[in-house]
Amino acid sequence: MSLLSIRLFGDPVLRLRAGEVTDFDDALRRLADDMLQTMREADGAGLAANQVGVLKRLFTWEAGDEHGAFVNPEVLETSEEIQEGDEGCLSFPGLFYPTKRPLRVSLRINDVHGEEHKIESATPLQARIFLHELDHLNGILFIDHLARHDRKEAMRRIRNGELEHPRPRPEGEPPPA
Ligand code: NI
Repeated sequence: MSLLSIRLFGDPVLRLRAGEVTDFDDALRRLADDMLQTMREADGAGLAANQVGVLKRLFTWEAGDEHGAFVNPEVLETSEEIQEGDEGCLSFPGLFYPTKRPLRVSLRINDVHGEEHKIESATPLQARIFLHELDHLNGILFIDHLARHDRKEAMRRIRNGELEHPRPRPEGEPPPA
């Protein structure tokens, strides 16, 4: 396995739509393994292929004891109930802002062998991660969901060069995705 380099905000690849995966081959499984390792090394909760410069509909995630690699994910249903909480992103190291997300989501995914599964988020954190990563695959970033004043502040901090490079996560801060 090898560590991949995580693209930061400003890299145009983060604004592109990733393409459907059609070949469930060893190269895909190697990419998923490398992404999982890269995500763990960066102390993240999720990582989409765009974030390592690969335009394939694939993301990895980890929350508590559970982790996975989802291919060609599609939202089947989201709850009307909303959760609010701080969210971060490995492409915006050091930035965390309150971000509203549905409390629950169900997905249709393929695993890395091409088998189809229906997935229900088991926790609010899983729902948040799944929806954050799905956004990445469509070129959407968490700052797009922020309240106007938070978004302005985030953009100002980015312009000032405040994106911190990988750093230990302070206690109590949520894992970025
Ligand atoms: Ni992210």
